[in-house]
Parts: sequence; structure tokens; C-alpha cells
Amino acid sequence: MTVIERQQLAPIEGDYNLTNYEEACQNISWDEVKQQFSWSQSGLVNMAHECIDKHVVDGYGNKIGLHYVNGAYEETYTFAEIKEKTDHIATVLRNQGVKKGDFVFIFLPKHPDCYFTMIATIKLGAIAGPLFEAFMEEAVKDRISDCDGRFLITDTDLLNRVPKNELPCLEKIFLTDADDVQLLGEKEISLIKELEKTVKEEDITTWVDLEHGLNIHYTSGSTGKPKGIIHAHRAMVHQYQTGKWVLDLKDDDVYWCTAHPGWVTGTVYGIFTPWLNRATIVVNGGRFDAKGWYHTLETTGVSVWYSAPTAYRMLMAEGNDLPNDYDLSNLRHLLSVGEPLNPEVIYWGKETLGKRIHDTWWMTETGAQLIVNLPSEVIKPGSMGRPFPGISIAILDDDGVEQSRGSIGHLAIKAPWPGIMKEVWKNEEKYQSYFPFEGWYVSGDLAVQDEDGYIFFQGRSDDMINSSGERIGPFEVESKLIEHPAVAEAGVIGKPDALRGEIVKAFIVLRKGYTGSDVLLEEIRKFVKTRLAAHSAPREMEIVTELPKTKISGKILRRELKARELAKLSQKVQ
Ligand code: PRX
Repeated sequence: MTVIERQQLAPIEGDYNLTNYEEACQNISWDEVKQQFSWSQSGLVNMAHECIDKHVVDGYGNKIGLHYVNGAYEETYTFAEIKEKTDHIATVLRNQGVKKGDFVFIFLPKHPDCYFTMIATIKLGAIAGPLFEAFMEEAVKDRISDCDGRFLITDTDLLNRVPKNELPCLEKIFLTDADDVQLLGEKEISLIKELEKTVKEEDITTWVDLEHGLNIHYTSGSTGKPKGIIHAHRAMVHQYQTGKWVLDLKDDDVYWCTAHPGWVTGTVYGIFTPWLNRATIVVNGGRFDAKGWYHTLETTGVSVWYSAPTAYRMLMAEGNDLPNDYDLSNLRHLLSVGEPLNPEVIYWGKETLGKRIHDTWWMTETGAQLIVNLPSEVIKPGSMGRPFPGISIAILDDDGVEQSRGSIGHLAIKAPWPGIMKEVWKNEEKYQSYFPFEGWYVSGDLAVQDEDGYIFFQGRSDDMINSSGERIGPFEVESKLIEHPAVAEAGVIGKPDALRGEIVKAFIVLRKGYTGSDVLLEEIRKFVKTRLAAHSAPREMEIVTELPKTKISGKILRRELKARELAKLSQKVQ
């Protein structure tokens, strides 16, 4: 077993929502959690209602629900204003034909419009499909066409990356920032103008049942194109309770999740969970910039912060003195997700920010956090934490047999739980593949659990790549590479990287007539970057004369490529 004992970090004194983990594990009842929602009395279910309208009904209309910062620019919205806006947008969308069960894709930057259109879509019982703002044409096309999406909400800038001609299914494109109707193209609608013309309807919410589709996020595996994971409104039960216990949200908290809603974290923990808990959310426009981030923490008074190891490592690289230039006295609780959180980063957080960083583990498919470090419990650096109360995990061998503590195996979760995905869109076979052993969801991660129940991540059992917390399927990148005229074959792996966890490395065989050069490699890299997405483009490329393959089926042996790469790296270290 590869668990290295490190110096543990005791909890910092505080008045936490959950104070005794063992007791919570014994006593949690999901049925009791359900009592927190207005539908437990009214029978009327809708995530958007629980996130926004309920707070207005309960007398919190004047509380700030969203604080937007972009450089020196700031604006705030109360829950009452968000209710008004989302009711109004929902009225326009409904008048334009959006109805229960329709897919509505949302391709917008981190801006209040992105958050409001998501809630408006969900109010109508439609399924929100947020797309990452850095997606390029093909990533956008693949997702919308897979759902035969009829509706898209975007802005005039990102519209340039929507290949309209290749998306005949698209009927209406709502532009959030176009106010000159003369300039609108075919199928385009100015949301601003429609809002001006439309009287907001009071009772616009469409009530659904708990199993109704809520949102769709596409996620990569080791084979095939990304798959659409659909969640149901019932996920709110799980999300709400993790907000209470893991994010430790209280009424006066200002909460910032740095992820874009195009990734599951940005939706579940950037929108649903904090709003279910009535927290003020911070939306920070623009890209990563250490000074800008510390500035946002200071000006908005963030108290609870959820980010990712790569971001923490980037802050760490800026030096230990920088945070001293800012007033971070409101910051009380830090969390991380998406990739392994190195112990060094946790120690850095303690030393420079005076706070522990609490790692959490979950997946797009799981709908909410499943393995967590709680503020009232000891942190074992290097461990993702322990199962959330009410969640049972096991480490299984290849035959589904439970392993003893200390043995490495497949990280599996007893199914079902309230946040688990509803379905894989149009792919029942894929959905079933997560459950190879009766009653267990098998994550694809390898892990070890120690005697105290702490779980340590050991890698993936497949070839999936995790770069800066972003899940990248090697097949998707390989397919794009071989579309380039110079590339005959390609094999793609994740290569360990100190900053990003892993980077995408491609091994390529050139077609006859092409000679390798830096210029050609850069051109091939750009080919992927401009068509798929920047994070999928190989940061490293190597030209080889042949690729290792299986004898029978001739499939590329990525594992072999990875083993060679790891051997090279260990030689360098020695
Ligand atoms: O390999 C695990 C890794 O990210 C995968 C899930 O990726 P995605 O669906 O994009 O969701 C990311 C955020 C919810 C997992 O199978 N992963 C996630 N959290 C951690 C992690 N690896 C190590 N430590 C974590 N805390």
C-alpha cells in the first residue's frame, strides 16, 4: 500500500454545523433532510424554487444572493431581484416555445446572465445544458447535436464558436447582449429586446417530480465521445446536506466556487448547493490571476471558498507574501476538489492563510460530494477524507470482492444515493457499465482505505486524463489529431505534471511525405486547440515511428506509452 503517513492537521476551533462525524453517520436520515424543502409540505417540486423563490417567500428577499466582480467592476443582486429576473427570463423563454423536458444549452462566460438563465430554464422544467466558456466549435456541436438541442442561450462573442450551419436541430438562439435587432442573424433572438416587450408572469414555475431531468453535463471516459450525464431534481436533497455539513454554510456566509458552470462543480457547488443553503454567491468574471483572486476574496468578503488543487498550486507559486497584501480576515473555510490535493498545498494553506484546505471527492456522475473532509475532523494530508454520512463505500477487487483495509482496489459506492445520476443520455449500456457488481457503483478510481476509514486516491483504472481537474478522454483527442492531414496515428496519455497534476501528451506517427518539425507540431497542437478546447490540446508531443498495439485487435496500448513515460521521468529523478 502506498499510503505515506504525514503530519495530521487537527480541526481549528469553530462553531460548525456538524460537530460529530460518527454520530452523524449513525443518525442521518435522508427523509429528515427532505423536510427542509418546501415540497415536503406543498408537494410542488422545482430546484429553481428552492434555490431562489423560497427565500423570498421566507422573508429573505433583501438578502444579497449574487455578488459579481470583474476587475474593478462590481454588481450585486438580492434574492428578490434574482426572482424577478429569472421569472422574467422564464416568461420570455416559455413564450418562445421552451417547455418542460426540453434541452436548453447555455454557453456564456462567468457572468450573472449565465446563472440567471440557468435558473430560468430550470423554472420551466427544462433541462439546463451549461457549456464551458472555452469550448471550441466541435465541442459545442457534439453536445448540442447529441441532444438534438433546439434552444441555445449565448452572447455575441461566443456565438462565433457555434457552428450554426452544422446544427440544423437548433431552432432559436437567444443572445443576452444583442440589442440591435437589425444585426441579428437567422434564428437569433435578442433576449434584451424580448424582455423589454414581455410582461413577467407571476406563476411561471413548472412543477415537476423529483425524478424529472434537471441538468446535463458531458463528461469524458477513456473511450468514445463524451457522454451526457443527466441529473434529477432529487439531487437537491444530497446537495443541500453537503452544503450544510461540508461547506458548513451559514446564513451570513459569502461563498465562492471558482469553477465555471460548464463543469459539474460550477453548477452543483457554484449554483445549486449554496443557493439551496441561502448563501450569497460570488461570481468572478475573467481568467485566473493571483492578484485578482485575492482582490475578489477581499472585496466581497468571501468566508467559504471552494477551488481546485491546480488553482491553489498557482497561488502557491506566487509566493507566501502576496496574501499579506490583502485583508482576508473573513475567510474561514477552504475546500478543494477535482484532482489529488498534495499535502504540500495543505501545509501551504495552513502556513500562509492560517487555514486548512479540505479535500472532497466526487464525480459528475455522483451528483454531489461522497468523500469529504469535515471542518470538525482531523485531516490526514494525502487523503480525500471519509465517506459523507449516509454514504457507504468499499474497495473492491476485480471480481467485486470487498478488500480489507490497507489494500488497493476499485473505489465503489453502495447505490443508490440521493445525488446519483438519473441516466446517461441515449446510452443505457454506458449507464449499466457503472454497476458491474450488484448494488455497487464503480467509480473507475483506485483507492486505499486506512484503519480509520480515510480514503487515499491511487490513480485511475482506465486511461482517463485529469489535467487541472478537467477530465479529458484520450480517445477524443486522438480522434481529433488524426483528422490533421499530417497525422497517421496518435496515442494520448496523461503525463505527471507538478502544476497541473497531469498534462496531455500525444505520441504521433506522421503520414508519409511529412517531416517532423517544431512548426508542424505547433500547427497540429493548434488544430486540436481551436477545434476541441484549449485544455484538451496536447501540451507535449512526440513523433514516433510506431505505436505499441495489442496483438489481436491492434488497439493502441496507452498503458505501455504511459509506462515508458513514467520510466523516463524516474530516470531523470535518479
Ligand atoms: O479521478 C477522480 C478525480 O476526478 C474524477 C471525476 O471527474 P469529474 O467527473 O470531472 O468531476 C470532478 C469534480 C467533481 C474522479 O473520478 N477526482 C475528483 N476529486 C478528486 C479526484 N481525484 C483525487 N482527489 C480528489 N479529491
